[in-house]
Amino acid sequence: MDTRIGIIGTGSMGRMLIRSFLRGGAAVPQQLCASNRTPEAQNAIAAETGIQTADNNRTLVKDAGVIILCVRQPDVVPAMEEIKDLLTDDKLLISIASDVPLSELEALTSARVVRVIPSVTSEQLKGVSLIVFSERTTKADRERVISLFGAIGTPAIISEQDIESYTTLTSCAPAFFAEMIHEFAVSASRMTGIPADEAEALSRETFIGTAALLEIPGTACTDIVSRVATPGGITEEGVNVLTCRFPAVCDEIFAATGRKHATFRNASSENTNTEGN
Ligand SMILES: NC(=O)c1ccc[n+]([C@@H]2O[C@H](COP(=O)([O-])OP(=O)(O)OC[C@H]3O[C@@H](n4cnc5c(N)ncnc54)[C@H](OP(=O)(O)O)[C@@H]3O)[C@@H](O)[C@H]2O)c1
Repeated sequence: MDTRIGIIGTGSMGRMLIRSFLRGGAAVPQQLCASNRTPEAQNAIAAETGIQTADNNRTLVKDAGVIILCVRQPDVVPAMEEIKDLLTDDKLLISIASDVPLSELEALTSARVVRVIPSVTSEQLKGVSLIVFSERTTKADRERVISLFGAIGTPAIISEQDIESYTTLTSCAPAFFAEMIHEFAVSASRMTGIPADEAEALSRETFIGTAALLEIPGTACTDIVSRVATPGGITEEGVNVLTCRFPAVCDEIFAATGRKHATFRNASSENTNTEGN
């Protein structure tokens, strides 16, 4: 199998994947080649990491066995139109665009197609990459994709019908968790007078420490709750507030993101200019 990987789009996610593949040992710089609509961005990541660049998307596709499409949803069809005659059935195409279904991608190419929803946490070689394989993929393709994304976190193979809810659960969640830590610190400052900077720094350290405890094999979230919140104690008062109020907040997060996905899904089927994630 051709081990060269071409990355189309060196925006935020394209760059994150390049850095993570190298850091996680999934590829060496000579195996990776990037092209971007605005050449400055591809040149900058090449200067930083030592990867190759292509003059344009067509050259990149010709020279790679695996192509990772890292453009936003409205740019997927224009990018595919540019390269579709070169995306033959000996190529493996991985699209990370939210809300562009396999059926739409397969209609534009005879390549073997995979959808991946990565997470910014892969920058630290942690977190989850959601993977949806098309019927066209071979066993070797599936092993290759699992190995690639397994090097930068935990791959989770799901069915396409579940992708929106799983995206909220994994790919969107770093934003939710970070916002929760921030709001917790803001509240500490508002309610107790702890200086805002200090509250943010201390709650952040505590969150990082909690995540490290969760990394200990066999540790459940409920284990940490019961270790800290002794019955009748002070922490239990705070946990009671959370168990009373927080489920409704979480339900609304899933409901709101679900509604937005539906908007993008409908816009995509009407081929209008929108973007998800
Ligand atoms: N952020 C997340 O956590 C996350 C997670 C999972 C999936 N995603 C999805 O990942 C996709 C990319 O997101 P992003 O945040 O990386 O977007 P971004 O920062 O806007 O990057 C997109 C890049 O694609 C380039 N591009 C557009 N059309 C092109 C073409 N025809 N040929 C070559 N390059 C082209 C753009 O070039 P210019 O420099 O010219 O603009 C830009 O650098 C989105 O669909 C998003 O939904 C994001």
